[in-house]
Amino acid sequence: MSKKNLIVLFGGKSTEHEISIITALQAIENLDRTKYDITPIYVSKFGKWILGDSSFFSPNKYKDLALIERKYPSVSITLGDVGRLSKNLFQTLKHADVIFPIFHGTNGEDGSTQGLLELLNIPYVGCGVISSALGMDKIIQKQIFTQIGLPQVKYQWFYRQTWKANPKKTLAQLSKLKYPLYVKPCNGGSSVGISRVAKISKLKVALEVAAYYDRKILVEESAENFMEINISVMGNSGSALETSVCEYVPSKGLLTYEDKYMSKGSKTDLKNAGMASGKHIIPASIKPATAKKISDYAKQAFSAIDGQGFTRADFLVSLDEKTIYINELNTIPGSLAHFLWTASGYTHSQFLDKLVELAENRHKEKSQLTFNFNTNILSNLGSITQGKLKV
Ligand SMILES: Nc1ncnc2c1ncn2[C@@H]1O[C@H](COP(=O)(O)OP(=O)(O)O)[C@@H](O)[C@H]1O
Ligand SMILES: [Mg+2]
Repeated sequence: MSKKNLIVLFGGKSTEHEISIITALQAIENLDRTKYDITPIYVSKFGKWILGDSSFFSPNKYKDLALIERKYPSVSITLGDVGRLSKNLFQTLKHADVIFPIFHGTNGEDGSTQGLLELLNIPYVGCGVISSALGMDKIIQKQIFTQIGLPQVKYQWFYRQTWKANPKKTLAQLSKLKYPLYVKPCNGGSSVGISRVAKISKLKVALEVAAYYDRKILVEESAENFMEINISVMGNSGSALETSVCEYVPSKGLLTYEDKYMSKGSKTDLKNAGMASGKHIIPASIKPATAKKISDYAKQAFSAIDGQGFTRADFLVSLDEKTIYINELNTIPGSLAHFLWTASGYTHSQFLDKLVELAENRHKEKSQLTFNFNTNILSNLGSITQGKLKV
């Protein structure tokens, strides 16, 4: 069997740029080279697309990101940029068998890149346009979870502009919630811009911080003394879905960016990045019935957003396991949540193979759809006079 051309897209114009590099390197290291020829395309923090070579497979490459940008020709994905290089880049993209977007956050995990990949009509790993966009929007996710009856903490949300225009009204709206609160930018990730607010006097600063990162702000009640339990869903909505074992994530209230990604002494170790804080326990020591409920909720949430490929679903579970809240879905989770799948009977490479296979299946299914509708409506089209169509 001939090898597949697989393009890994990573980096990106996002606050989680560095995390994306780590996740991509972990995947590249574990993609089976007997099955795939890998081409890296690195997107800089400024949104420049750089066609990489094999030197991009080494962590050392990323010690000086500015140097990469200076050294390699790059192209912006804009209408104006249609030079020779962009042709080169698009030729490369066009000849891919499968594209593997490994971005975290804005401009990559949020449906924008997925839209570009839809236009290219090439199979790509993971969620499509809608599910990616929904996965990034914590507020619309919550509204969907409410609609399908999944339990979650009480919350309020508002636009930054509304708050700026009428702070009193917003504060009155928030007075319906019990402290401590979590204040979050709607589209955030990796805890960037999130604050835990213990009392009202700290609320304004937290809102300012969140408003710095987003147009929409989410404020929710804190689930105090709850465990954080994660699970991953794999499959394509409409077909059979599989869930991984659950993971217990140790948390000190709010896992910071450093907690998540920096090991002690702040040196990031590629293999374990994403597991850096304390002792993650996989499988989580929870009752089988609780794990089953979490698995059911995760599948329901995945289907509700029309999830494709895989996601990680994050839950907050009370210590007595009587209350389970869904917190959020992550459509391109840190480390692709491979720790959960290697604890569920897959090798890392098999897990990545499965993601590629799901991407191809979805593409096949989509290519069977009809995008034409035969109609003779235009043949009878008359003229338009004074705004009225005469037929
Ligand atoms: N309502 C809440 N109650 C308790 N802890 C929370 C709540 N919301 C968030 N957290 C804590 O904050 C972390 C980050 O919040 P989350 O909504 O998952 O944002 P991110 O997109 O940054 O992962 C969570 O992993 C959890 O530790
Ligand atoms: Mg989270």
